[in-house]
Amino acid sequence: MSLDRNLNKILIIDFGSQFTQLIARRVRELGVFSEIVSHKKIKLKDINNSVKGIVLSGGPLNVYQNNKFSFDKKILRFDIPVLGICFGHQILSKLNGGRVKQSKHREFGLAKVYKKNNSLLTSNFFRNKKSKQVWMSHSDQVSKLPKTFKVVASSTNSKFAIVESKIKKYYGVQFHPEVTHTENGKKLISNFVFLICKIKKNWSSKDQKNQLITDVRKQVGTNKVICALSGGVDSSVVAQLLNKAIGKKLYCIFVNTGLLRKNEEVQVVQTFKKRLKMNLIYVNAEKEFLKKLKNVSDPEKKRKIIGNLFIKIFDRYAKKIKNVKFLAQGTLYPDLIESKSVTGSQTSKIKSHHNVGGLPQKMNLQLVEPLKFLFKDEVRKLGLELNLSREIISRHPFPGPGLAIRMPGIITNEKIKILKEADYYFIKALKDHAIYHKIWQAYAALLPVKTVGVMGDNRTYEYLCLLRAITSEDGMTADFYEFKKSFMQSISNKIVNSIRGINRVVYDVTSKPPSTIELE
Ligand code: XMP
Repeated sequence: MSLDRNLNKILIIDFGSQFTQLIARRVRELGVFSEIVSHKKIKLKDINNSVKGIVLSGGPLNVYQNNKFSFDKKILRFDIPVLGICFGHQILSKLNGGRVKQSKHREFGLAKVYKKNNSLLTSNFFRNKKSKQVWMSHSDQVSKLPKTFKVVASSTNSKFAIVESKIKKYYGVQFHPEVTHTENGKKLISNFVFLICKIKKNWSSKDQKNQLITDVRKQVGTNKVICALSGGVDSSVVAQLLNKAIGKKLYCIFVNTGLLRKNEEVQVVQTFKKRLKMNLIYVNAEKEFLKKLKNVSDPEKKRKIIGNLFIKIFDRYAKKIKNVKFLAQGTLYPDLIESKSVTGSQTSKIKSHHNVGGLPQKMNLQLVEPLKFLFKDEVRKLGLELNLSREIISRHPFPGPGLAIRMPGIITNEKIKILKEADYYFIKALKDHAIYHKIWQAYAALLPVKTVGVMGDNRTYEYLCLLRAITSEDGMTADFYEFKKSFMQSISNKIVNSIRGINRVVYDVTSKPPSTIELE
């Protein structure tokens, strides 16, 4: 799996660490292309001239579980610098004649590393101090260093916290320089990339824009392309990129499921059709969706019904356009990495995600996925390069099944109306208080319970509104956002006083895991 363009890169061999994507992002933030390949998929031929450095990631395995990981030692024979992180550090030491000690105790969290010797890897890392704070997450550790290696820094628990080979460009760190808790960790990565691998900057959103436009033109020629536009960041950037590349050969289909945020359909048409002059087909399918969802309360059934109907409607309109050859999708790099095809890993299914993935086989369409090598923050920067407004680019994610999964129980017109209002007031308040951008995602949900309240001396018996606001890096894990009491008070008052149908507001204080971000 690799880009057609032969960009010089740092290749990250993934051994299953939850931070592997972060390593790739840190390298790219430095303006250098990086790619991730699973240890199960890496082949010797992947180590071609464009690979200027190799990072061996961390992972849950131990170096003695030979049957659980495969790593061709021949990869180390090339004259390419290697940086081992945590588990990667341990295999690098073991393969060079060192020893790794299995330990029952896990060192998890902050630790201090103390400088012992100079190294290119730690240039300006310690910044005239003797120690630095780093973030550890391991149980095993290197207990005997290869004869050809030397210690660069030690921690209280790991004698060999930073090491390097005296004869080859091999470096190992027991901690995680890619996580923000490691003080100055970015400097270590930057030293490896620029001082040791000597790679030049080749990755910026401006270069990306021009290159991706050329790539799309080359791929689709004069053929017609359709694109499902949701108004979210990814599909908006894909649509605008194709709009710039092929103009009116692009047909965007926007389906109003009736489960969108308040006024969403008006804003999407306004932005994409009127302002950006795209070929936009607006489909109002509110009634169709509501009919199919009548009396359905099972979350998975809701998701399936919505996904299938979406595909059906999309297919119907695509046929009307005639002679369509391509379908453009906003697949991102994390989707690719997390899919079985790249990592070989299998995760248990928690929710059936709604997307248009079923379409290509059914309609015999080829896929155009121009963002498939980009991370979300890179897509946002690209969007700005493409003249999309900051408002579109920095929107919170919104799920395909929309308000249906924020309304446990059956879906009715009345509930949708109430929920749209509650969500509108909540998001507006976040924007008015300038906290919208501090939050990764926020929404209101309507719970299928009624509770008793008192308003103007009268008894009320109405719905319960749940507010959820989380901070996150990528949606895989999340923590709830801590609002000030005054904000919670004012939003609760606003919702209860302005919306008929809600008389109580609660705030969701669970993180993910064990919860998920959406309710269903
Ligand atoms: P969960 O609820 O799984 O959500 O913690 C993680 C992120 O994914 C979004 N989400 C979806 N996005 N189609 C989408 O495009 C879906 O079916 C879907 N379900 C959840 C969710 O909003 C959050 O950002």
